[in-house]
Amino acid sequence: MSNEIPNRLWIHNEWADAESGDTFSTLNPATGEELTRVAAGGEADVDRAVSSARGAFRSAEWRQMDAHRRSELLWRLADLIEENADELATLETRDNGKPYFESRKIDIPTVVQNFRYFAGMADKIHGETIPVSGPFLNYTLREPLGVVGCIVPWNFPLNIASWKVAPALACGNTVVLKPAEQTPLTALRLGELAAEAGFPAGVLNVVPGYGDQAGAALVRHPDVAAIAFTGSTETGRVVLREAAGTVKRVFPELGGKSPNVIFADADLKAAVRGATSGIFYGKGEVCAAGSRILVERSIYDDFLDAMEGRAKKMTVGDPMDSGTRLGAIVSETQLERVLDYIQVGRDEGARLVTGGERREVDGRGFFVEATVFADVEPDMTIAQEEIFGPVAAVLPFDDFDDAVDRANRTIYGLAAGIWTRDVGKAHRLAREIDAGTVWVNTYNRYDPASPFGGYKSSGFGRDLGLRSAMDKYTQEKSVWVALD
Ligand code: NAI
Ligand code: MG
Repeated sequence: MSNEIPNRLWIHNEWADAESGDTFSTLNPATGEELTRVAAGGEADVDRAVSSARGAFRSAEWRQMDAHRRSELLWRLADLIEENADELATLETRDNGKPYFESRKIDIPTVVQNFRYFAGMADKIHGETIPVSGPFLNYTLREPLGVVGCIVPWNFPLNIASWKVAPALACGNTVVLKPAEQTPLTALRLGELAAEAGFPAGVLNVVPGYGDQAGAALVRHPDVAAIAFTGSTETGRVVLREAAGTVKRVFPELGGKSPNVIFADADLKAAVRGATSGIFYGKGEVCAAGSRILVERSIYDDFLDAMEGRAKKMTVGDPMDSGTRLGAIVSETQLERVLDYIQVGRDEGARLVTGGERREVDGRGFFVEATVFADVEPDMTIAQEEIFGPVAAVLPFDDFDDAVDRANRTIYGLAAGIWTRDVGKAHRLAREIDAGTVWVNTYNRYDPASPFGGYKSSGFGRDLGLRSAMDKYTQEKSVWVALD
């Protein structure tokens, strides 16, 4: 790993300080210690980054670049990310607190795969010829939107950035990326690597800073054509409202309270494994976390016994240690939120099966045990609100209709899991559940080719997926030509 931690603004392929000179601290949540202070972008910095991105968008170099060349640049960037995977995974783990094996074996390789997939898309974007009345030729051009603002959260910092940056660039846009203030480091390194790959200055700028400053300035900026956002539903509402002022597109990918539905005819061992990793993977800081586990009543007690056993094996520890399964909660604020929800679960009468306590490793850090609540009623707070921590709510259900009713009884609709050996039942339920992704006899699967996003208050943006990416990051122009 290089000695220097990237900690300034990345604008026009150069490092810069915030105009105000302000900085903020980013911590290693496993130790509570400061990793570095990072330049805090404000309105003036966002304006600089947007004007660089706008200049790049208008430049002949980017605008007239062969799509094949754009594809090569994205592929080259993927190679560089792969070559620097150890460094990036270390930065991610230190900044976020997730186990190193997750960063190194899953997050960063997925980023590489995303850039390669969208590299392949860059030279396959084209319009259509359309039959119209009269002596006219009508065709469409698929053109980029302009400057795309990408605002991303702290749970999968580089991965979710790649969900947005790779297709946006593939489609010929330029980007201003605003990472979360808890985890800005890998995004900054991405900016630097993009320059090394050969992207012209201004095509990818990275402005770290607080959401209500750098984020809000990006959303309000008149020269930003679209905001691709992943974060909480609450902030998503603010972004949607603010974007109305300049009539820009917003693609919100928001929170979830995803049901994992386990029928009595499921392979119980596989279902328990899937339910456990579905909620505890990534410390439960996963928008699609299977945080509501619905279990058919006849297997309810057996399921709980088995899940308790597995939850107890979720070793809390130093994220750099290969035996660690639960890393540190991203920040002290988030730790407090999670502990508050655990208290609310107790107060509202849910039964604590295992976990429930704060932990420290070597006397420090923001850790929480893998926590399972049973006998949760559908309207309890811990069955309704996104906790974003390692806390499972287990609820019994009686039959298929009851499962549908319970699964859909939330404002969210991001993802769902179904466990059964009955193929017909699986497909029937997949249609009944309000969710943008349904996993049958598996959980937490992603592929750059498959669209991911929400129903209901989980938003309506779609990340990944060929057609959805093309629709999202291009606009259609209809051209009419008189033939006589
Ligand atoms: P957040 O939604 O406020 O943060 C996400 C991103 O939005 C960050 O980059 C942040 O700086 C930015 N942001 C914040 N306010 C903004 C504004 N007014 N304008 C533009 N950008 C803004 O999430 P936060 O506060 O970090 O976490 C709170 C809760 O949100 C978590 O406990 C969790 O429940 C939920 N959350 C859900 C995520 C998901 O993927 N579903 C991701 C992150 C948080
Ligand atoms: Mg941090």
